[in-house]
Amino acid sequence: MAEIKISGGRRLRGEITVSGAKNAVLPELAALAGMNGTGVIYNCPDITDIKTSVDIIRYLGGKAELSKGTLYADLNGINSYEIPSEPGCKMRSSITFCGGLLGRFGETVFSKPGGCILGERPIDLHLYGFKALGAETEETEGLIRVKGRLKGTKINLRYPSVGATQNIIIAACYAKGQTVIENPSLEPETLDLIKFLNTCGAGIKVKNSCIYIEGERTLKSKPYCTMPDRIEAGTYLFGAAMTGGKISLRGISPTELGIVWDILRKTGCELKYGRDYISLKSIERLKAIDEIVVKPYPGFPTDLQPQLTAMLSIAKGKSIIKETVFEGRNRHISQLLKFGADIEENKGFIITGTKKLKGADVTAFDLRGGAALCMTALAAEGESRIKNADYIFRGYKNFGEKISDLGGEISIINN
Ligand code: UD1
Repeated sequence: MAEIKISGGRRLRGEITVSGAKNAVLPELAALAGMNGTGVIYNCPDITDIKTSVDIIRYLGGKAELSKGTLYADLNGINSYEIPSEPGCKMRSSITFCGGLLGRFGETVFSKPGGCILGERPIDLHLYGFKALGAETEETEGLIRVKGRLKGTKINLRYPSVGATQNIIIAACYAKGQTVIENPSLEPETLDLIKFLNTCGAGIKVKNSCIYIEGERTLKSKPYCTMPDRIEAGTYLFGAAMTGGKISLRGISPTELGIVWDILRKTGCELKYGRDYISLKSIERLKAIDEIVVKPYPGFPTDLQPQLTAMLSIAKGKSIIKETVFEGRNRHISQLLKFGADIEENKGFIITGTKKLKGADVTAFDLRGGAALCMTALAAEGESRIKNADYIFRGYKNFGEKISDLGGEISIINN
């Protein structure tokens, strides 16, 4: 596992370009498994999770190559409906391959995903959706088989799961008749997947917070450019805010940031934007925010919760964050305390802002928590070491380079 060394206390300054959104590219690559033809996806970040998806496409019999931010795929050779447990198990989102494989072959098999660092990660909503579409599911010795001819129907999700919505959308493109998903995920990444599928021949509409999918479509991959990564953008904006910095991000607009934009404004940061850039100027001391509830879109995104917690740990006053998406997303808290943060866990994170944090030796337990620790280290005085840094490279393209471009003092030690 790599380790990151950061010498903190420098203001982040400068301009960087935001990469393509990991969480949009992943379901788009998974959807390719149901398609024919040759595919090209632009703005595809060169990060570990995307490479895992490329490996899965290859395992299924397709050809795929990621080169300089573009994914080239030839899908005509796909001849297996079995999602391999290796590399599939490395990444929970490999379950999103089910929708396309089920559509293409009428059958798919995959290993039951285990829990993860964020807590129990059930897949009942994925299976509920497939069953509602007419498939049968069977579990033997940790393998789940989903099989059947799909028929469009109305599906009401008890919770707007991102992955389940995406899986159902993809599968429903191949079902007979129309499918309506009520209470779906309306995350920008889900909407980007819909745009991609429609480009490839699907008939999907979003109306009155429901998703309508016309079935029996033959999907043929077409060139597509994925949306920018709002989570990556938010991470660097919070980092700049914490260090009293001034940065510009190219390739993203405020509409893509949603509530994150409002939160940064509330802390007192000055924000400006143009058609495809955002710039942020921080103030001497950030202001606390009374209460933020982390919830599905358009609520505050759980993937920015650790970074937000880190930022508010140096804001003036008391802030409360309530995480409702992944209740187990709290392992960064014990590490933030090592920098001198004052955070109490009691039905939420109660954060009393500290003026200055001190460098510390900490451990990343997951991707976003790891990024939050790095932003904290950049703002803290002195030197910090962040262990288990490989988590961070799963989701951030050129992490070290981008922080260096912004003037941060960072080095990556590969053990
Ligand atoms: C996706 C994102 C992840 C983000 C999350 C929430 C990708 C690749 N990953 O993950 O970065 O943190 O959305 O925005 O896009 N749940 C169930 N049953 C299910 C599925 C989910 O109860 O069948 C629950 C989960 O336990 C969790 C909540 O729903 O509490 C959210 O999970 P979900 O929206 O499915 O997240 P993912 O799609 O796994």
